[in-house]
Amino acid sequence: MTSPTPIRGTMIGTTDLRRTFKTRGGSVEAVAGVDLHVEAGEIFGFLGPNGAGKTTTLRMLATLITPTAGEATVAGADLRRQPQLVRQRIGYVPQGGSTDPAETGRGELVLQGRLYGMTKGAAEARAAEVLATLDLEAAADRGTGTYSGGMRRRLDVGLGIVHQPQVLFLDEPTTGLDPQARARMWQEIERLRELGTTVFLTTHYLEEADALCDRLAIIDLGRIVAEGTSDQLKQRVAGDVVTIGVDGAAASVLSLVESLPFVREASHDAEGGLVRLYVDRGETAVPHLLRSLDAAGLAPTSIALNKPSLDDVFLRQTGRSLREEAA
Ligand SMILES: Nc1ncnc2c1ncn2[C@@H]1O[C@H](COP(=O)(O)OP(=O)(O)O)[C@@H](O)[C@H]1O
Ligand SMILES: [Mg+2]
Repeated sequence: MTSPTPIRGTMIGTTDLRRTFKTRGGSVEAVAGVDLHVEAGEIFGFLGPNGAGKTTTLRMLATLITPTAGEATVAGADLRRQPQLVRQRIGYVPQGGSTDPAETGRGELVLQGRLYGMTKGAAEARAAEVLATLDLEAAADRGTGTYSGGMRRRLDVGLGIVHQPQVLFLDEPTTGLDPQARARMWQEIERLRELGTTVFLTTHYLEEADALCDRLAIIDLGRIVAEGTSDQLKQRVAGDVVTIGVDGAAASVLSLVESLPFVREASHDAEGGLVRLYVDRGETAVPHLLRSLDAAGLAPTSIALNKPSLDDVFLRQTGRSLREEAA
């Protein structure tokens, strides 16, 4: 198999992509108008809570289900008019994986190569290459049933790259892995990018999107609520985040802090136990806040100062916490 010709510029572009599912109870708009732009050579993250529409979007881009509306180009081919071409140029690793516990890792990879039309010899050579790339050589000739979760997931990724796709779709590549196996998977994904593969992955882990992805889009209820680099998204929150534990006095604390000139924005959580506010300079704001609360006879139970996280971005855009949703 020849090496893929690298495509410069846009690797994935979508316009108003939509997918509605008909169910007994009516219809669900799982993806409700998604515009995406993924550059060749980047690791792009699709971050969102369960049910946000990540898998549905990926399955559309991988030609596994048809969009209800909208247009997309994937690896230089038109999704609607050239699905075969898209299929040749992409790899897709589903959320759960699909390895046969009785088959060896090498056996799975050779089989996959044959499925893509390689000769036996070519498939064997490619399997050896993939095993080396993903550091699975030591376990290559064992049944995958003996693999650890992390090894099995790396083999899933291997199955997705046998045919040297230009773009690889990874649906939650690290969900369920322990922290060590997750860090290991991040390394492998970075290596794939170094080898020239564009990676489009979904995750509901904030740290993962933050640490691994060159750019990301946050999706909620089928819509993209924010897009950019992790830093750009955090900058959009503007300022530092102060969280005050208020023990039932949320309304009074909120109206007090909202009257302070250095507070840009404030809100309390649904339970009324926490007031969260955004300020330009947290270090100087906190002493002021404490004095003002004290003067008003309000005693906070806790106070925390943080740089904005992707969760703050999500919270700001949707009014809900991504952490609570993912838990
Ligand atoms: N085949 C289907 N039939 C009906 N509803 C579906 C189907 N697939 C997904 N959905 C619904 O679409 C929404 C998005 O699901 P999904 O794309 O799997 O989200 P995510 O991958 O972000 O968790 C959810 O509300 C889900 O229940
Ligand atoms: Mg999913």
